[in-house]
Amino acid sequence: MIRHFLDIPELSSTDLHAILADAKLGKQARKGLPKGAVDPEPALPGIMLAMIFEKSSTRTRVSFDMAIRQLGGSSMVLSAADTQLGRGESVPDTARVLSRYVDALLMRTNTHASLLAMAEHADIPVINGLTDRSHPCQILADLLTLQEHKGELSRLKLAWVGDGNNVASSFLHAAPKFGFALTLGCPQNFAPNSDDVGHAINAGAKVHVTTDPNQAVADADVVIADTFVSMGDADAKQRLTLLGPYQVNAALMSAAKKDAVFLHCLPAHRGEEVSAAVIDGPQSLVFDEAENRLHVQKSILKYCFGKL
Ligand code: CP
Ligand code: NVA
Repeated sequence: MIRHFLDIPELSSTDLHAILADAKLGKQARKGLPKGAVDPEPALPGIMLAMIFEKSSTRTRVSFDMAIRQLGGSSMVLSAADTQLGRGESVPDTARVLSRYVDALLMRTNTHASLLAMAEHADIPVINGLTDRSHPCQILADLLTLQEHKGELSRLKLAWVGDGNNVASSFLHAAPKFGFALTLGCPQNFAPNSDDVGHAINAGAKVHVTTDPNQAVADADVVIADTFVSMGDADAKQRLTLLGPYQVNAALMSAAKKDAVFLHCLPAHRGEEVSAAVIDGPQSLVFDEAENRLHVQKSILKYCFGKL
């Protein structure tokens, strides 16, 4: 059976923990090597990864490119607009054709349905590089960062503040798998996906939703923000107005635990969802978080090829 990496609920808790454990080991094992050097015992020699982007990317694109190189493989980046996809060739036909040329596909899509169609028709592993619905690769990097800085995840309380967006959904997907408590403080208009909230609670996760950002961060070990205007959002003006009171700033951080840390998947907008003092301050882990994308992508790729 092909091992796709589409969304966190499809993986077992054991596999998810194995990905994080492998990423931690892989990160340690490479200390001191130049970033472009292949791993001493490369896990995926000769593997070719194609990455299709319908939206912009810095971290996902570069971390997956470096990940597959370090594993002994290579990658090509395809902008959807420059391929026949951009002229209307179907996703199923693209999936069938690319499956004849390359060994794995990563896709960043405007609509989650395109990712699912790609996975349905490809004969090779397909990885979710962000859709309008979710961003699972990001959340595993975030959780690795929290393991490194805060230890056992099931003892932590995470607070998501702002837009209940695709990244928030992936945190909801992860909550029952890793056992952390999660409170989301979002305005009514930008509440998290209710199906994701329901599934997380039914799966036994300690999840709460509030419209009060102070209540969300009370007692939190981790405060998390993301952009108020995601790629593809057309209502920027309304978002900036309604989400303004949800900025993570020093006052809001002081309502969390004293030793709370701050995460943001980046790119960030200082002065909107987070103040410069917080994201550039001592509680911020955002660049460790960005680095961990690389280490986690490698383990996700290994998982897809049955190497974990
Ligand atoms: N966090 C993240 O996915 O960044 P990019 O959009 O730069 O890939
Ligand atoms: N929520 C953001 C995340 C970017 C990495 C977006 O979808 O644009």
